[in-house]
Amino acid sequence: MARILITGGAGFIGSYLIKFWLKNDPGLSVVNLDKLTYCGDLSRLAGLESHPRYEFIHGDVCNPALVEKALARCDAVIHLAAETHVDRSLLEAKTFFDTNSYGTYVLLEAARRKHIRKFLYVSTDEVYGSRPTGFFTEKDSLHPTSPYSVSKTAADLMVLAHARVHRTHALVTRGSNTYGPYQYPEKVIPLFVSNALSDRKLPLYGDGLQIRNWLYVEDHCRGIIAVFNKGKSGEAYNLSSSTYLTNRELTRRILKILNKPLSLVQKVKDRAGHDRRYAIDSKKLRSLGWGEKFSFDSAFEETVEWYRGHENWWKAIKEKSPDFKRYYQKAYRERV
Ligand SMILES: NC(=O)c1ccc[n+]([C@@H]2O[C@H](COP(=O)([O-])OP(=O)(O)OC[C@H]3O[C@@H](n4cnc5c(N)ncnc54)[C@H](O)[C@@H]3O)[C@@H](O)[C@H]2O)c1
Repeated sequence: MARILITGGAGFIGSYLIKFWLKNDPGLSVVNLDKLTYCGDLSRLAGLESHPRYEFIHGDVCNPALVEKALARCDAVIHLAAETHVDRSLLEAKTFFDTNSYGTYVLLEAARRKHIRKFLYVSTDEVYGSRPTGFFTEKDSLHPTSPYSVSKTAADLMVLAHARVHRTHALVTRGSNTYGPYQYPEKVIPLFVSNALSDRKLPLYGDGLQIRNWLYVEDHCRGIIAVFNKGKSGEAYNLSSSTYLTNRELTRRILKILNKPLSLVQKVKDRAGHDRRYAIDSKKLRSLGWGEKFSFDSAFEETVEWYRGHENWWKAIKEKSPDFKRYYQKAYRERV
């Protein structure tokens, strides 16, 4: 039986990956290492507590002794733990370099010492930076622009260097903007949906014409699994859907589904250094047999409805978490 250490498994994508994979692969057992930072939440994994093939370890990927212990009896690592919110990285970058860059180094070194069979790093399309037209392929050079994407790029390239230098089996996925249930409500879709449901303003950056690719969380997880099973060591794989939308159009669709007025949109000062367009070509991954299973229109509507049906979950964060209030007030004030 394969035993995999998944880091950041209490987060949005990591929790979906664990639930999805355990359900679909009876030969898999998972160790979830998560620090439970402000956005880590074990309620995303409710029901798994006593699962015979699941174990949770509360801890920091920056702690070498703990990481070595967590790797005991594991054959492979899938590393998702990260500080993930670009806006926060503009306000306070240190934790991004600690967790995203140094934490990845700690995991790589421990994996090497423990002769771990395979290491997959979940990177992001943001490592390429912005481009006005066309699509980045894995052969293009990286031009990250925010502290978040710079800290992810350092880790992404370190993982690939490890494969070259130490001949370890290491892989990277570079996924695009992901949506689905249980995303922390500071990210644009759950933030805008929950604000609209409460008849609060939707703070739209600048002219709202920034373009993003939107990937459903299960398609993202299936892409990670495809690369894990079939990817070539030392290689990166772009992971994106066929849906590109401006932030303005995304906002309009949220309001339409919820039957709320466009007057809820409040234009705010653009994010400093805001990348205009992310666009990646995922032919290389598609050649491994991966393809998106979910159409944007229906998966997006279901996602919006999920937030409508789970007010208790996001209200507990938005109304009761002191961290959310502190951050949101600071970020929002600086944007208006
Ligand atoms: N969400 C997206 O749109 C997207 C797109 C592409 C790539 N990614 C990447 O996918 C991964 C997961 O993203 P997400 O949206 O699920 O993130 P998230 O913010 O929802 O979850 C991150 C998780 O990491 C944990 N964590 C943070 N610091 C840690 C540390 N030092 N030690 C152990 N655990 C720690 C948190 O507690 C949390 O559970 C990240 O690496 C992110 O860069 C995300």
